[in-house]
Amino acid sequence: MKKITSQSDYQQVYNESVEQPEKFWAEVAEDFVWRKKWDKVLEWDFHKPEVKWFVGGKLNITENCIDRHLKDKANQTAIIWEPNDPTKTSLHITYQQLHDEVCKVANMLKNNGVNQGDRVCIYLPMIPEAAYAILACARIGAVHSVVFAGFSSGSLVDRINDAGCKVVLTSDGSLRGEKKIDLKPIVDEALQNCPGVVKTIVFKYTNSKISMQAARDVWWHDEIKNTKPVCEPEVMDAEDMLFILYTSGSTGKPKGMVHTCGGYMVYSTYTFQTVFQYQQGQVYWCTADIGWITGHSYIVYGPLAAGATTVMFEGIPSWPDMGRFWQVIEKHKVNIFYTAPTAIRSLEKAPLSFVHQADLHSLKVLGSVGEPINEEAWHWYHEHIGRSQCPIVDTWWQTETGGIMISPIAHVTKVKAAFATFPLPGVQPAVMDEKGAELFLNGVEGRLTIKFPWPSMARTIYGDHQRFKETYFSTFPGKYFTGDGCKRDEEGFYRITGRVDDIIIVSGHNMGTAEIESAIDEHTAVCETAVVGYPHNIKGQGVYAYVICYEAPQDEEKLRTEIREMVSKVIGPIAKPDKIQFVSGLPKTRSGKIMRRILRKIAEGEMNNLGDTSTLTDPAIVDEIKNGAL
Ligand code: WT7
Repeated sequence: MKKITSQSDYQQVYNESVEQPEKFWAEVAEDFVWRKKWDKVLEWDFHKPEVKWFVGGKLNITENCIDRHLKDKANQTAIIWEPNDPTKTSLHITYQQLHDEVCKVANMLKNNGVNQGDRVCIYLPMIPEAAYAILACARIGAVHSVVFAGFSSGSLVDRINDAGCKVVLTSDGSLRGEKKIDLKPIVDEALQNCPGVVKTIVFKYTNSKISMQAARDVWWHDEIKNTKPVCEPEVMDAEDMLFILYTSGSTGKPKGMVHTCGGYMVYSTYTFQTVFQYQQGQVYWCTADIGWITGHSYIVYGPLAAGATTVMFEGIPSWPDMGRFWQVIEKHKVNIFYTAPTAIRSLEKAPLSFVHQADLHSLKVLGSVGEPINEEAWHWYHEHIGRSQCPIVDTWWQTETGGIMISPIAHVTKVKAAFATFPLPGVQPAVMDEKGAELFLNGVEGRLTIKFPWPSMARTIYGDHQRFKETYFSTFPGKYFTGDGCKRDEEGFYRITGRVDDIIIVSGHNMGTAEIESAIDEHTAVCETAVVGYPHNIKGQGVYAYVICYEAPQDEEKLRTEIREMVSKVIGPIAKPDKIQFVSGLPKTRSGKIMRRILRKIAEGEMNNLGDTSTLTDPAIVDEIKNGAL
């Protein structure tokens, strides 16, 4: 595989990857352990849609993430685990230990009836067992579905049932800053509505008093006790399912994105190595939670397959104080640091003394992910964290893409504040106008699509291929539609401008406004709701809810609190509305469609620029809403 060491190399490799994509990806894939080589690199049809990579190839991703490193790296640290509480000891887990632990968990799963192809729900805090669980599933060919441990029991029910999970792995509780959160009761509540779950394996972590249901619930420490630290990896087909991960849709329930073994392995690893230019021996830290795609691809699979040392952090950036991230960087001499703009913006507000107290000289590369990074945050990050010497890789990608798509290559390609810059080799973006024509020149703005497959693209929505086709392949037939708007400037740099559909990104978490609306509607006082995003100086976007009640509320603040609690219960605390405005009606067209454009403008504070309101059934409602805006 040709190494990219300069902007002109990049251009050359990129061109080759577009001219001969199969040759390009076959060369990349040669660097992995395959039990049987593929017969054909790629089969694809974006109209059906159907995509297969490394057809006929056989492998196990954990053999690539673990076993192949044992020859020369058995004693190298694979995972550094940094606990929530800085006074507790961190763990250095070597590749050999990782092997043994993963095999033990794999055997524990087998003993509890998990077979190849079965779906396993993982609902665990950021502890090493979460990584072992993910890899153990992959080792025996079971399909993991990780659910972020901040989600409520209702969200857990939807995800468990949709994926048909048979077993749930969880813990008694989790730790976040000074809070202890009991997880098992959330699982108990969920399982009342999940008839397919036959077993839960509970890791004892916080020692909270919880109840165990005989026959269904077993303790992790009992089950793992006599398991062997050896478990042969199951030989999987390149196109077998590796995992399902849920992401919000602009309508309806969350979508279970399906990722497969071969292509996902090749792409997550290649992009990890390329974007961050990871050098052997370096310490790499991605602050995401393992419950999101960023955690899957860039805490677990990509870095481990590359033989890296990856930090897994249980805590939060603000506890015990706003210097926690910087202290962890100093403590573990982190060389590559990858976080989200929302975290940067909140840390930027804290006194700089928190940054200056820590020695950040180990840092070589900084990364950003999850939402557009504004210029101010970019400059602060560059100057104060990167000492104006570390490139920032602003990585654009999605749960659906499985890996980074548009990003600078650290120390190699140019960076530009607030721009994701250039597509990685193998990625073919196309900017489309609203009529569906591709904009070929530079200096254009439109919708971002991808016109050629890449190995880690999601293959389908679990159980609903029709929805997969409608959501991603019908807006611009023959192309994958990302749902994002973008600009390509005069010099060809890409800047992602944000979602163009009804998805909002709050603190880097992707949420469907429809989902939040239906959670608010569950409150008995509420008749109808419309939710939009608005610019929020820390979260990126905040949640603004317009709520119609059956009767004008007596105590607005009390009802607001109840509504927030309802959303927290139905979806999870991350989806709680920041602003709730009670209104007597919503701006609707004659066909009954809510004109969200108007609501968005009002929420953004752009009262005088509402555009055409003549098609509304009741234009007067707009004035009422404007006058009551928060
Ligand atoms: C959406 C995907 C990528 C993993 C975490 C989020 C937005 C993501 C960037 C970026 C501008 C970004 C997009 C995308 N997004 N990264 N660097 N610049 N926007 O994954 O939850 O599936 O969300 O996040 O709008 O479509 P996700």
